[in-house]
Amino acid sequence: MIDESSFVYRFEPASRTGAPPLLLLHGTGGDENDLLHLGAMISPGSALLSPRGRVLEHGMRRFFRRLAEGVFDEEDVRKRALELGAFVEGARQRYGIEPPIAVGFSNGANIAAALLLLKPEALAGAVLLRAMVPLSDPPKASLDGKPVLILSGQADPIVPAGNAGRLSTMLSDTGAKVVHKILPAGHQLSQADVRLAREWIASVDAQVV
Ligand code: MLT
Repeated sequence: MIDESSFVYRFEPASRTGAPPLLLLHGTGGDENDLLHLGAMISPGSALLSPRGRVLEHGMRRFFRRLAEGVFDEEDVRKRALELGAFVEGARQRYGIEPPIAVGFSNGANIAAALLLLKPEALAGAVLLRAMVPLSDPPKASLDGKPVLILSGQADPIVPAGNAGRLSTMLSDTGAKVVHKILPAGHQLSQADVRLAREWIASVDAQVV
């Protein structure tokens, strides 16, 4: 059985009452430390839950297997997304936190998108940085107004523009409240990502409070 202890992770408790917890999901080759600084910048005082991907690709950590760059092992995507959902559930019980907003970069954004489609109740929303469509034929989910921010790079060599656009449509079709912005950037994050993510989280937070 998968629970919170099945993952290596970092947890930083909240230091501001009412700040939404964040689930930080690193990119290929990263680890649980990578996005802690970003999380603190985009949502000061939030609890930060940051797991390490359990898949190894040539020594690089990931959240699911792929057959080639941009070609995913979708059976593994489904399995690993549900494992991540069980991890989040276990961590919520252990630390007494609300469903988090996922903040994922690249491979981490893709597993966050899969989790949204497979188990929407696990998350309060998501910031998807350089995300692509994780599942070609996802189940009919109901995201029912869940807020999602997708930030894509206009010159991203890994995520074709059309693919990010399809993800945006796919999530909107399930009822998610999607904001999709295309930035003058590549696959790496820019200052604009940090600013837009911070403003978006503050606006979502204000709606909830
Ligand atoms: C993925 O495999 O999830 C995407 O190609 C992004 C990456 O991690 O390179």
